[in-house]
Amino acid sequence: MSNKPFVIVSHTLPEAWLAKLVETCEVLVGPETAVTPALSPELEAQLPHADGLMTMLTVRVDEALLAKAPNLRVVSNMAVGTDNVDKAACTARGIPVGNTPGVLTEGTADLAMAILLAVARRLPEASRDAREGRWTTWSPTGWLGADLNGATLGIIGLGQIGSAIAHRARAFGLNIVYHNRSRYPDKEQALKATWLPLPDLLAQSDFVMVSTPLTPDTHHLINAAALQMMKPTAILVNIARGPVVDSNALLTALRDGWIQAAALDVTDPEPLPADHPLYALPNCFITPHIGSAANGTRRAMAELAVENLLLGVQGERLKHCVNTAVYQ
Ligand code: DGY
Repeated sequence: MSNKPFVIVSHTLPEAWLAKLVETCEVLVGPETAVTPALSPELEAQLPHADGLMTMLTVRVDEALLAKAPNLRVVSNMAVGTDNVDKAACTARGIPVGNTPGVLTEGTADLAMAILLAVARRLPEASRDAREGRWTTWSPTGWLGADLNGATLGIIGLGQIGSAIAHRARAFGLNIVYHNRSRYPDKEQALKATWLPLPDLLAQSDFVMVSTPLTPDTHHLINAAALQMMKPTAILVNIARGPVVDSNALLTALRDGWIQAAALDVTDPEPLPADHPLYALPNCFITPHIGSAANGTRRAMAELAVENLLLGVQGERLKHCVNTAVYQ
């Protein structure tokens, strides 16, 4: 073995995205489509030697994994969300955890608007009908969807991504209300956004956009009670993390008409098994967690994760660290 730092990258990524890493480190990469929350057995076997670990959001970094990696100096998650990482366990071991904020903001906001529009204007259904021969005439009442102009978008979580969504939504003529633990007077002014308590936001919004991180406080924030507060014509969009919405409650809400439709880029569980009843509902549109899946965005995420990883193995402060307590 060379005396270069040894790092593990949980999934295969295009070579160019890892170029900086291979210049200075011994790098072991995992399979491209590793699906379980664990590292592949080959990678796991090398954990005792690892100085750094770069993970995707599907890899659970917990006490059990950390115990196998006594030399680990950094965990670099190629995602802005780090709910897959036990931050407390990392902090206790003095391991900084990196994430990739900023670079995926615009791409994820694009996807959020794309799926909101898709469901609002019933694109999946209309496209399927055209393809399958049900477009027999121009129909004055066919495929009627929801208007955006003048409607109200309620954004739960006005962080970077929520704000980028609000910015786009303003251009579609939507009025913006938001709910967040802290209020943002600057953003309220810039985005003409009004802060509301959550029940008021749910009751007033035509579209409810979930863009809040998954934490113990936001787990099942959108539960049966919340769904019942929404308008029967409302559309729910989740681009954050699946468990922020209670899937069983959502199933009932969509089946029983508590709300009109949902667009989900994230689900609970994830991946959502092909036989899950949510797929059977015509008013539920599901995409496979592709919020940041644009070429430039993903490359920028990888490069930022590499930067964090390199800083960590060199013992320097990460560019973006979610457990800064390790530096105190
Ligand atoms: C993130 O970075 O947390 C996103 O969910 C990836 O798309």
